[in-house]
Amino acid sequence: MDDTELLRRREAVLGPCYFHFFERPLHLVKGEGVWVWDSAGKRYLDCYNNVPSVGHCHPAVVEALCRQAAELNINTRYLHENIVRLGERLVATLPPELDTCMFVCTGSEANDLAVQLARRFTGNHACLVTEGAYHGNSELVLQLSPGSYPREERPDWLRVIEPPDTYRGRYGGADAGERYAEAAGEVIDAMTAEGQPPAVMLVDSIWDAPGPLRAPDGYLDRLCGKVRAAGGLVIADEVQSGYCRLGEHWWGFQHYGVTPDIVTMGKPMGDGHPLAAVITRREIAEVLARQTGYFNTFGGNPVSTAAGNAVLDVIEREGLLEKVGASGAHLTATLEELAGRHACIGAVTGRGLFQGLDLVEDRGSKAPLTAGALKRITTLIAEEGVLVGTSGVHGQTIKLRPPLPFSSEHAEIAAAAIDKALTRYAEER
Ligand SMILES: Cc1ncc(COP(=O)(O)O)c(C=O)c1O
Repeated sequence: MDDTELLRRREAVLGPCYFHFFERPLHLVKGEGVWVWDSAGKRYLDCYNNVPSVGHCHPAVVEALCRQAAELNINTRYLHENIVRLGERLVATLPPELDTCMFVCTGSEANDLAVQLARRFTGNHACLVTEGAYHGNSELVLQLSPGSYPREERPDWLRVIEPPDTYRGRYGGADAGERYAEAAGEVIDAMTAEGQPPAVMLVDSIWDAPGPLRAPDGYLDRLCGKVRAAGGLVIADEVQSGYCRLGEHWWGFQHYGVTPDIVTMGKPMGDGHPLAAVITRREIAEVLARQTGYFNTFGGNPVSTAAGNAVLDVIEREGLLEKVGASGAHLTATLEELAGRHACIGAVTGRGLFQGLDLVEDRGSKAPLTAGALKRITTLIAEEGVLVGTSGVHGQTIKLRPPLPFSSEHAEIAAAAIDKALTRYAEER
């Protein structure tokens, strides 16, 4: 198929709201494990896509999907073993009080439902989010995504706190956690004084959009305490950080010793199949049950949950949580070593298999490289056969977030490609 003609047709029919990665759009036709292939047969190491969590087209997931699709697909108003079993298995990965699971199709739906739960449970309306965060695309959760929503249109019930960024932010010393939490506490006090006490704070446990970030010690626990003291609940948005991605723990919030009131999850749950969930305490779900109840036509159907159970089987069978601990540590060390050789890498941020390279004009000023420069650099990395993405408040960060079976050898391949691309970029300037 002619890629130029496909691009023309895409623009004609899909219109202007979609963008694509890289200077030349990539037409992918096949995936297997951590590898994908383009229409010209070129192979790429996928260091970007976390949705195919256990690897592209994992045979166990494909088999489970096909088997269930050939047998029955129906909705959650009927009894079905797949649905109940996936709920039980997910709840078992969380602290015991988080005992009630509701299925949806996307991370946006999960966060939308979570905010509804929190508002009904607390009786408050206002919400607290991190500057630059992204929590989804419905009317409600896009407003809760300051990185993507026009600043001048922010609703009066929304308050924004700064990201706990120890590289670019106000605080970076040993007391950074305490100071960021204090600054957030002032926002919470002010909103309460203005008659807008928080219903809820949403927090992405890897701060992907303004990061990725590893929050300083003593930040999240203090912050959760302040939100709760003001009458609000805490939603851990684990759409990015959950499912073993950060190594050591199943969920991102577990790195900070806190227990949220509601956990949302999505992207990696179905290895590419749309599947997401909200898990909360029974008393919180009971309020919604009394007032509106909940139904989602496709969320948690037997085919989706067949995929979801197969993903959990693979994580268990292939020991992926333990493997991510080792490969994530190796990836971090490899990127740190690269930073020693390229002055444009200001900092290596993130955790486990979710890493960022914050790129700067010079390390002294920390002036960020532009989004345009990042497009060029990520294109050069793709030309070297590795797919990465971008992130950060200025779009200045190279993001690596590969499928979980990513190994130490793959980390070496990725680092070699970034090394070459940064060298080529420096020569071009
Ligand atoms: C942290 C976070 N939450 C929620 C979402 C929304 O998920 P979805 O695109 O599945 O609706 C995203 C999507 O990128 C996300 O990064």
